[in-house]
Amino acid sequence: MFQNLAGNALRYAETTIIISAGVRKGNAFVSVEDDGHGIPEADREKVFIPFSRLDDSRTRASGGYGLGLSIVSRIAFLMVV
Ligand SMILES: Nc1ncnc2c1ncn2[C@@H]1O[C@H](COP(=O)(O)OP(=O)(O)OP(=O)(O)O)[C@@H](O)[C@H]1O
Ligand SMILES: [Mg+2]
Repeated sequence: MFQNLAGNALRYAETTIIISAGVRKGNAFVSVEDDGHGIPEADREKVFIPFSRLDDSRTRASGGYGLGLSIVSRIAFLMVV
């Protein structure tokens, strides 16, 4: 999970990423933030679909498979169940 979230953040950040963790209302959380262009509100469901990449450019330097966030969301789901 962290490898993918931090990898994404490093790829898109302008200068800075912030990784934090804590407990809020009895629930543990981890947060990975970056100061890049972000994910438009309308695409926030789409990025969890396997093989979906917003820039659709697997060959560029930013290239990945679009699988990371779908795996991250499954791992997170299995942790809460
Ligand atoms: N921190 C971010 N800032 C901006 N866009 C992001 C960020 N994280 C993810 N995205 C967008 O969501 C898409 C899906 O992310 P995901 O991690 O699933 O795939 P990937 O990083 O492209 O490839 P993979 O993780 O399989 O190597 C990315 O291609 C990108 O378009
Ligand atoms: Mg990724």
